[in-house]
Amino acid sequence: MLDLKEHGVDMWPEEKIISFREKLLDWYDENKRDLSWRRSKNPYHIWVSEIMLQQTRVDTVIPYYERFLDWFPTVESLANAPEERLLKAWEGLGYYSRVRNMQAAAQQIMADFGGQFPNTYEGIFSLKGIGPYTAGTISSIAFNLPEPAVDGNVMRVLARLFEVNHDIGIPSNRKIFQAMMEILIDPERPGDFNQALMDLGSDIEAPVNPRPKESPVKDFSAAYQNGTMDVYPIKEPKKKPLPIYLKALVVCNDRGQYLLEKNESEKLLAGFWHFPLIEVDDFSSDDNQLDLFSQVKEESRAFGPSPQENFEQDYDLEVNWSQQVFDQVKHVFSHRKWHIQILAGQVTETKQFSDREVRWVSPQEFSDYPLAKPQQKIWQAYKTTFEDKGLQ
Ligand code: ADE
Repeated sequence: MLDLKEHGVDMWPEEKIISFREKLLDWYDENKRDLSWRRSKNPYHIWVSEIMLQQTRVDTVIPYYERFLDWFPTVESLANAPEERLLKAWEGLGYYSRVRNMQAAAQQIMADFGGQFPNTYEGIFSLKGIGPYTAGTISSIAFNLPEPAVDGNVMRVLARLFEVNHDIGIPSNRKIFQAMMEILIDPERPGDFNQALMDLGSDIEAPVNPRPKESPVKDFSAAYQNGTMDVYPIKEPKKKPLPIYLKALVVCNDRGQYLLEKNESEKLLAGFWHFPLIEVDDFSSDDNQLDLFSQVKEESRAFGPSPQENFEQDYDLEVNWSQQVFDQVKHVFSHRKWHIQILAGQVTETKQFSDREVRWVSPQEFSDYPLAKPQQKIWQAYKTTFEDKGLQ
């Protein structure tokens, strides 16, 4: 067991811990958010909600959660789901390895646990894509096991309660908060205790604009008592995501179908369909695309083919490129920020592709093709411009 004193944390005496639990759980009983997954103790339901909530806000998750359980009501149905359907269910949520890992874990449950969701922390932790936090939430909420669930929200609340002088953004510091939670957690109602701290951390004790006066446990909070709420938690700012510049080629034929390609790579967004994308070094500092367009043509004589020419060669197509200017599309992944310029065009002849996963797809059929968030944004920007201009 980690020695908290050595890490500068003065744990409370037993009576104070007991009254803290009471205060927190009374507040939770009165104020807990009524969320769909809180009406269930089914570990499969809790698991789906927790994986969705890892990088996504509660309001966004609710409709996805309900549809996911509608499409895949059991572990078995998830284990057997076709890839396109799986990605479709997750479309727009991002971090798609989450759902791929869930399917692998569902297959693990079928193969190694006889189709029964494991009911111990170790069993749950052994599943693909489940780390200590998610194993803690499922163990405590679905099986009432006294296992902490330490995420950023919980660390922030604890850092303020105890004035913890360790950066909550450094992964190796998590063990300090884990050790604190092992002592603090309510042994009778561990799931509610964990979720009460999550609720507190995502609202009253939010990272920005907290309302510490409203906290049900302010009398317990060293930072509140000592006026150091703005010091805690200690957290170094994150590095900026790396900018990536891309041209998206939105190309249609005379039947109003658009060229979509499947991403077969093992990298980001594998398995998704997308408008062809070409990475470039940078955009001109002047974002005026018309200038850029002619500039690219000019430059192409001096510096080689333009992205449009590369595209035509690569896909063996002849395209009439539009001079239309579109809003730039931006999308942030965890370590990258995509800056996307749309180039629109129409082919003179509809060629079919036998050598690669490229299809002509009408907008009515887009729903059959998983499109990740940046592609949805590209389509919106493209459509909006045409609708604004009364074209098409
Ligand atoms: N965020 C992650 N899990 C949660 C839960 N069970 N309740 C509220 N917010 C959460």
